[in-house]
Amino acid sequence: QELKLNLEQIEKGGYEHFMLKEIHEQPKAITDTYRGRLLRNEAIIKMAGVEDNMKKFLNANRIIIVACGTSWHAGLVAEYIFEDLSRIPVEVEYASEFRYRNPIIDENDIVIAISQSGETADTLAAIKLAKSKGAFVFGVCNVVGSSIARETHAGAYTHAGPEIGVASTKAFTTQITVLTLMALRLARAKGTISSSEFRQHLLELEMIPNKVEKALEADAHIREIADLYKDSRNCLYLGRGYNFPVALEGALKLKEISYIHAEGYPAAEMKHGPIALIDENMPIVVIATKKGHYEKVVSNIQEIKSRKGKIIGIVTEGDEQVRALADHVIEVPETLESLSPLLTTIPLQLLSYHIAVLLGKNVDQPRNLAKSVTVE
Ligand code: AGP
Repeated sequence: QELKLNLEQIEKGGYEHFMLKEIHEQPKAITDTYRGRLLRNEAIIKMAGVEDNMKKFLNANRIIIVACGTSWHAGLVAEYIFEDLSRIPVEVEYASEFRYRNPIIDENDIVIAISQSGETADTLAAIKLAKSKGAFVFGVCNVVGSSIARETHAGAYTHAGPEIGVASTKAFTTQITVLTLMALRLARAKGTISSSEFRQHLLELEMIPNKVEKALEADAHIREIADLYKDSRNCLYLGRGYNFPVALEGALKLKEISYIHAEGYPAAEMKHGPIALIDENMPIVVIATKKGHYEKVVSNIQEIKSRKGKIIGIVTEGDEQVRALADHVIEVPETLESLSPLLTTIPLQLLSYHIAVLLGKNVDQPRNLAKSVTVE
């Protein structure tokens, strides 16, 4: 028993929990993901799984992404990236719904299945269904040699390294990294991105690990905020555009490890219902980075403030406008809008982590949850 405990301590590498270790591993994990694929000096992206099937990708009518949970959120971010950069229509589906709803799909469709474990039963079933209808299926998995990696026609590994904490962290950011590389590669092949824009993306993507490092420096400040809101019964997360899926992911992280009820919404949807929930007891995390609908999000923040909601703003370094309105701000470095989810996700992971620890919850193994869901 003692040996087992010691072994676990070593595996945690000095961190109190696997989740915290994995949050801090993200700069390295993201670097490992693009290593050998992003060749900035040559201004190319090399991905064998995409290269070998380029014709299929270029001729596809649309891409359908199937996944569950956090991987589904990565799929939602990918929808923005693929449509924006590569101009390929994308639909994102819960694997569990897709598999049972007789979807219209044929050999001109590409299905991208995203899964950290590569063992999620619903995702695996969705892949089998898509294959039976003639679609080409591409897997984005973390676990090498997993069932989904074997069941797909081609794929790209995330190379995040083992993720032990049930709450997915580095798997999410590395999934987004792989999907961004894919979208950029296809955009180049289709001519939907200029060569200077392409180069800028490569440069900015290469800078992301250092910027994640910077975002992690807010840890102590986030712990203080966590302490103030740990006894809340509800929490709202708002974001727009590329950061709408990040709001969903932030809410999922809080729910699964702290058991606090949380909802993510596109910021503009607030006035269609959730605004009724806002009072002085409601913390609202608003992703309000400088690029992408900033002014509109600021006006959402004003609406929250006039209803006395407690605002925690995720802002770009140096932001003054949101700082003047919000109760707290957490800064992340500036980057391209399309890459911002890789940074805005970090404080949300830390916030849920600290709240759960302060509440004394089992962070790495939350109740009722398993790391891979191999049953329906
Ligand atoms: C995320 O924190 C979850 N524990 C869960 O939603 C997970 O992302 C989902 O079960 C999908 O798992 P997969 O990526 O291994 O397929």
